Amino acid sequence: MDDIDVLVSEVGPRDGLQNTKQFMATDYKKKWISAAAAAGLREIEVCSFVPPKLIPQMVDAPEIVAHALTIAGLNVAVLAPNLKGAERAMNAGAHKITLPISVSKSHSISNVRMTPDEAIAEAKRICELRDRLPPGKRPVIESGLSTVFGCTLEGAVSEDEVVRLAVASVDAGCDEVGLADTTGYANPEQIKRVFRKVRAAIGDKLGGAHLHNTRGLGLANVVAGLEVGVRTFDSSLGGLGGCPFAPGATGNIVTEDLVFMLEAMGLKTGIDIDKLLAIRELVAAGIPGEMLYGYVPAAGVTKGFVPASRT
Ligand code: COA
Ligand code: ZN
Repeated sequence: MDDIDVLVSEVGPRDGLQNTKQFMATDYKKKWISAAAAAGLREIEVCSFVPPKLIPQMVDAPEIVAHALTIAGLNVAVLAPNLKGAERAMNAGAHKITLPISVSKSHSISNVRMTPDEAIAEAKRICELRDRLPPGKRPVIESGLSTVFGCTLEGAVSEDEVVRLAVASVDAGCDEVGLADTTGYANPEQIKRVFRKVRAAIGDKLGGAHLHNTRGLGLANVVAGLEVGVRTFDSSLGGLGGCPFAPGATGNIVTEDLVFMLEAMGLKTGIDIDKLLAIRELVAAGIPGEMLYGYVPAAGVTKGFVPASRT
């Protein structure tokens, strides 16, 4: 992070593709990941280690990780919902494993068939497995707290419960805790309040924000996050994404719009916006008929635009 101000973590190949109707061919996924890295993205959540029967799109996860690991300098992130998934991810050599731990009990059961406390107990087993690896081979384990800002099944989510599960994640051995607005319920004031509360409880173990744009507040929430010191944001190319187990949850914030906004605000992402915009064509060809979102791709960058990363 020395030469950039904000880390944009691309989650399209995981969060995006877990929701598309069509299977994206393995070769397309590899080309997407390579092109994203070549555009300057330094962290990509490339897939999830889930039962292929449940999410057939992720059947090629080990091959995708193997490909991503050939790209120099790329932080290869994946999602794993349980011990078996984490073990598969570690065997594949992922650098970072995010565990989805839902704060809402109903979403937790619907998503991973565990209560939040059972998911924490599973996280502890996963961290113990990590600790058995030789020091240089241990992946970063992130607790990805989800439905932090509201749940499509339960409505409001208790902030005390968010803090409790953040602390429990750290106690279980997680290296960092990210906060996810899985359902697009958050507003900027809430982002500031909840991130502050969690930071007060776990300090620098607080990781990034994973935001969805369901109600159009995604980028406003990014600005709120920046104001309280958040420096890592997940986003997906074309705003692909959602959660198959949270009815009504739609896409992530759009990587292209996010990068444009940050660079225009003078914050370096290290990402080349022109190269980034060019990737849409490749992704669209890999999942024909799938809707890609984004304002900057439609309008183009502003005349004379000088991105912070080029100054
Ligand atoms: N990868 C591959 N196979 C797995 C697996 C994993 N991570 N976890 C379990 N399995 C296999 C088991 O070996 C078992 O196989 P078998 O039928 O051949 O014996 C089968 O799947 C069922 O295992 P079980 O432990 O009973 O899992 P489950 O059916 O209770 O499902 C989860 C639990 C966590 C695996 C499932 O709910 C899940 O993958 N959820 C994540 C969904 C997701 O990705 N959501 C979006 C991201 S937020
Ligand atoms: Zn998401």
